Formats: sequence, C-alpha cells, structure tokens
Amino acid sequence: MAVVIALDAGTTGVRAFAVDEAGRPVGYRYQEFTQHFPRPGWVEHDAAEIWTAVVAVTTQLISSLEEPVAALGITDQRETVVAWDRRTGTPRHRAIVWQDRRTAARCDALREQGALATIQPATGLVLDPYFSASKVEWLLTEGGVEADDDLCVGTVDSWLLWNLTGGEVFATEASNASRTMLFDIRSLSWSDELCDLFGVPRSALAEVRPTSGRFGETHADSGLPPGIPISGIAGDQQAALFGQACFSPGMTKNTYGTGSFVLMNVGDTCPEPVDGLLTTVAWTLPTAGGGSRTDYAYEGAIFSTGSAVQWLRDGLGLIGAAEEVGPLAETVESTEGVFLVPAFTGLGSPWWDPYARGLLIGFTRGTTGAHLARAVLEAMALQTRDVVDAMVAASGHAVTELRADGGASAAPLVLRLQADQLGVPVTRAAVPETTALGAAYLAGLAEGVWGSTDELAELWAGEDPVPPATDRRGADALHRSWLEAVRRSRSWAAE
Ligand code: G3P
Repeated sequence: MAVVIALDAGTTGVRAFAVDEAGRPVGYRYQEFTQHFPRPGWVEHDAAEIWTAVVAVTTQLISSLEEPVAALGITDQRETVVAWDRRTGTPRHRAIVWQDRRTAARCDALREQGALATIQPATGLVLDPYFSASKVEWLLTEGGVEADDDLCVGTVDSWLLWNLTGGEVFATEASNASRTMLFDIRSLSWSDELCDLFGVPRSALAEVRPTSGRFGETHADSGLPPGIPISGIAGDQQAALFGQACFSPGMTKNTYGTGSFVLMNVGDTCPEPVDGLLTTVAWTLPTAGGGSRTDYAYEGAIFSTGSAVQWLRDGLGLIGAAEEVGPLAETVESTEGVFLVPAFTGLGSPWWDPYARGLLIGFTRGTTGAHLARAVLEAMALQTRDVVDAMVAASGHAVTELRADGGASAAPLVLRLQADQLGVPVTRAAVPETTALGAAYLAGLAEGVWGSTDELAELWAGEDPVPPATDRRGADALHRSWLEAVRRSRSWAAE
C-alpha cells in the first residue's frame, strides 16, 4: 500500500504528514521556525529556514515509513511573500508574513484613490495589508529588492516547489494566486492592470497551474529522495475545505487556529464580491475531457481567536497551557455579561477595520479568570457567526452543518457554543489535520491513488455532531450584546 505525503508549511511551523490509501494518518513530523518582529506590526520569516525545516521533517518522516511514497502535496500559509534570486536560489529579503501591517497606510491611500473599484471585482478581495500585493510593492520600493530578470516573487508554495524541484519549476496554483491581489479570479490569470498598479513585473511571477496535477518531481539536489511526484498544491484554508470534503455548494468549514478561517463552497461560478467577505478560488481540478473546473469559496478571515487563548497564557498568565482554557471556562455557566473582542491586530471579516483594538467590557468586581476564559471561547463562536450570517445572506445557501477542525475544536465547549450561535450541528473531523489531509488528497487524486472527489467524500468521517440548543433566545441575546461590544472596539487606534 502506498502513502501520500503532505507538506504543511504553516505560519509558525512546518509539518510533514503521511496518509495511506484509506485516508488514515500513518506518520507525522513537525518543526517550528523563528518568527521575526523587526518593528511593531511587522512580521517576517526566513524563507531559507522554512526550507531547511521542510527538508528536515520530510526526511525524518520518509525514513520512518515502510511504504513507498506515491505523491507529495504542498499546502502553505497564504499571502506571505518570498522574493528570491533564480540564479543563486537565495532569498533577497526576509519573507513578509500575511499578519504584517507595514503597508496599512499604503492601503488607506489606495482606497482614497478609489483603487478598490479595480481591485475588488477582479480579485474578490478587500483593500487590506493582509494580501501580498502591497507587500511586494514594499519590497521593490522600500525593501531594496531589485526588479531584475533574476527576481522570483511568490507565495510560500512556489518557494518550496522551486526548491523541491532543484530550481526547475517556478509555478503556483489558483488558490494561492487568488490571495495575492495580483490575480484575476474570473480569467484565472495574473492581472496586468494590478501588476502595473503595484509595480510588479510579470516576469517575476510564477506560472499558475491547476491545484491538482503533476507540478514536477523531487530533484536529487533538494536533499530529499529524488523522483517523488509533486502533484497537488493549495493554500492552507482551501486545502482544509478540501480535506473536510466540502465539495458541494453551501458546505462550510471552520478551522480554529491562531485565527479562524471560515470557508463556504459556492460552486463553479464566481459570485459577485460581497462587502465584508472575501471571494476566493477554492481549487482548480482537471476534468475528464482534458479541461478543468474551478470552484470558488466565500471566506471569512477572522484574525484573532486562538491568539486570544495564547494571550491568556502568555500575556496574563491565567492558564499554563492552551488546553486548560476549555476546562477553566466550563467552571462557570456564563460570562455574566463579560465580552472580550480580540481585535489585537484590528478586525478582519466581516468588519475589515485595521484600527479596531481589543476590548474587554462588562466586568465587575465578581469577574474571575474563568469568566475571561469563557469570554475568549464565546468570542470564537460569535465571530464565526458574524461571518456565517454574512455568507448565508450573500450566497443564498443555508448552512445546515459546520465542519470544524483546528486546535480549539478539541474543546467541547467551543463546539457547543458554536452550535448554539449558528443553530446548526457542528461536526469535528475525525482526522483533525484536515489541512494536510486536503493537500494529500489533491496530490493523490492526480496520481490515481484516489479516483474522484466522490471517493474522497466517502473517506471523510466526523465525530458525533454537536447539536444546537433547542431554544435560541439566549444565543441571540448574547449575539446582540456582542455586536454592541464590537461596535465599541471599532476605529480605536485611529482616534
Ligand atoms: O491566510 C493566512 C492563513 O493561510 C494562515 O494560516 O494556519 O498558517 O495560521 P495558518
């Protein structure tokens, strides 16, 4: 029996993950890498360190496996920009990470110039420093990166693919490209107009290929065993949507990580952009007749959810480990009116307010750490409701179930609060590493390990669904108060 390996290059660490033909995890290695914060609001990674970590975890994993490796898939933190030299293979600057806010003022200026009218219809995105384009512009105008013929600029997937293939393949695919703000999600090609707007030379951008299909093979120079087909690539949230088998319009997943990313499959027609939500490419798959089919998603990008748990642990010392937050929150029946809006780096979907800041409101002399812990978990569920409500209104699809994964989905209280807020069952995936699983599925699909998405849907399994409370009045009242707390957190840093 062959295995498929997924390389999951996330924001704080890289993992190599192996699954067998039944979709069962058979091996796993993980390594963290350094986060650089050169100035307030700036976040950088050393792309060479990411590559070294990928080689280390993949080598360790492969040497622990008895089965042959049929294919390798890549999934990655999206929007993060790597600039490197195609002759030497050396990064020309530290990677600028999706969380980095250094281009906030530039985005404000572009908004004032009316650039959103060009950007949003083409890309489905909003004008925010989150996306790659203003970061690339910064590298070229302020970062000392020369826009010469040897420049390669790409998302982390293209950097890894280039290294895996010994510098032979410079390619990406549409789910990652759709996060750059340089890619037209209807024509599925780089936009000349947007490249001009941000001063990005087309020659520096990777070729865009289907999400599932052979990109190349591992090269002997990569440090990995040569000849392994690299056959699927997707941005991590789209990979999680795939790993959750959300193949039909209306199917929705939430990954509860440092932030939370809610994606709803909206089918193969690109919808009109909606205020508050992102429209994004889910994946492009080859079809039987030699063509391809692109599916789209609405996305709610919520910047801070798990990071609020980290703040309880590292900032306040309220808990010793993240896993303690659920049991602590369970010791109280409610927050007794306490709300915590975790707008640490502003608010993403559906508010898009880079100047919102964290707000703790409603506390009294009787408030304890348990109330705070519960308020943090409630904020996860409430923020998710905000984006799911917007998705339902925009798409016309009812959400009948939310599929959950990511760290905080292990807390039963999070799933209960979420089910109550949405009024639908919430089901945690039986294999919680859905991001890596999705990348493995995309690669295995291209190499014949699996035959179709129908077959993958059969492999998907969930834990027992968590039902919503029968009476929604309490959840609705909580949500109304939450919206008022959010309103009060808005624009704070702009005052
Ligand atoms: O858009 C950012 C997202 O792709 C990052 O995901 O899991 O690395 O925090 P993660």
